[in-house]
Amino acid sequence: MTPTGKRLAMVIAGSFVIGASVALLQQSGVLTMGFRSLTAGKALVGGPFSLTSHTGQRVTNKNFAGSYMLIYFGFTYCPDVCPSGLQVMSAAIDKLGVKGQKIVPILITVDPERDTPEQLAKYVTQFHPRLVGLTGTPEEIRDVAKAYRVYYNKVKDEKSTAGYTVDHSALFLLMDPQGNYVAHFTHGTSVDAMAKRLLEIVG
Ligand code: NI
Repeated sequence: MTPTGKRLAMVIAGSFVIGASVALLQQSGVLTMGFRSLTAGKALVGGPFSLTSHTGQRVTNKNFAGSYMLIYFGFTYCPDVCPSGLQVMSAAIDKLGVKGQKIVPILITVDPERDTPEQLAKYVTQFHPRLVGLTGTPEEIRDVAKAYRVYYNKVKDEKSTAGYTVDHSALFLLMDPQGNYVAHFTHGTSVDAMAKRLLEIVG
């Protein structure tokens, strides 16, 4: 398939898979808890972080001060949900034209073992020229995910060559230029809906 065809197929596949993932998360109570935290107040979501970018440089939240951050937690080996989410996020930002430049799209990996800076570098450019990939030690990833109220869990997967996959929340978090939480989008949000809301906030 062409790259576009493949991505479209992944978007379609993703919309089916997410149903199962959401059900699983709801069952474990994680999703409900996550949303409560997200809507309970600004102070509860976000915070400082220190990670390694896909270019191999150490970066902190201060490197992004002055820009909005649209953060997605995922991983490059994710078969469907992450690619479709990143595609929607990238298209929404592009839809904003020049105003989209106020937003830095960021992918923070929940699979630091496999997602080296080199692996992330190959991946991020497939979605957006400005997409920043961030990785770190397992402890650094655990801390940033906790701060941003993102759930992830490594689970056995016989189909994967590495023998595991990572279940994770599929949320987009928008942080303002001071690093405060402003809004989030759930998986399945359309490009148009995301672009409209982003424009209301950053425009
Ligand atoms: Ni994923």
